[in-house]
Amino acid sequence: MSTQTSLRRTTVPQIAARKGGTPIVSLTSYNAHTAAIVDRHADFILVGDSLGMVMHGMDSTLGVTVEMMITHGRAVVRGTRKALVVVDMPFGSYEESPGAAFRNAARIMQETGCGAVKLEGGARMADTIRFLTERGIPVMAHIGLTPQSSHVLGGFKTQGRDEASWPAHEADATAVADAGAFAMVLEGMVEPLAARLTHAVPIPTIGIGASAECDGQILVLEDMLGLNPQPPKFVKVYGDLGERIENAVRGYAEEVRARAFPSDAETYR
Ligand code: KIV
Repeated sequence: MSTQTSLRRTTVPQIAARKGGTPIVSLTSYNAHTAAIVDRHADFILVGDSLGMVMHGMDSTLGVTVEMMITHGRAVVRGTRKALVVVDMPFGSYEESPGAAFRNAARIMQETGCGAVKLEGGARMADTIRFLTERGIPVMAHIGLTPQSSHVLGGFKTQGRDEASWPAHEADATAVADAGAFAMVLEGMVEPLAARLTHAVPIPTIGIGASAECDGQILVLEDMLGLNPQPPKFVKVYGDLGERIENAVRGYAEEVRARAFPSDAETYR
């Protein structure tokens, strides 16, 4: 297995040191093929629990298991050489206690070879983040819109529209940074709040739907490639893969129906 001990890999301290510097480039990836392409351009790759929807057709991330994260995390580590690989801790694998979080995070790191884990939650998760980082597990935090808590938040709402909520978000950001997180994802928040949090903490903020005020950006790969017919509104779509795959599959189907495909076994490599 190509583990994160390889000297070629971007390290956690290298990402942490990018605070206020050249923006950090990140995308999700869930399989070896796409990860190998992303690896050539991204600073870190997130094996996000969004794989529940993207890869497994689930309605939300809540049904994603540690085993699913390990399967996809291992594939992404195998397919890559350069980028730091961060694997999401799924819902139910870390909230109960720091001890339970440690056991699951250690298992994810051991069985995938990834370099760090990500978990959702601000001040309420600070003790757990401290427990993990003090025991050798680098943690990326995730605050703002946290999809695993969508039932509590009442859906997928942009955070910080009401200025009165900003101090609570700032308390979350400073709590996870003080607890030892090396970076944090800011998801779905208004630009002035993202700017405020980015200035308030000494670690990089990685935005998703949180403006260019952050220290970097992450997007779900399939969204920016044009594979999601209904990407979130904030996503700039850089590719038209949905259309290209459709055309290629249609062309293939037409040729097979016309028997216009190689029939000579010698053509196989
Ligand atoms: O699961 C995921 O893909 C994520 C990103 C949206 C940050 O957590």
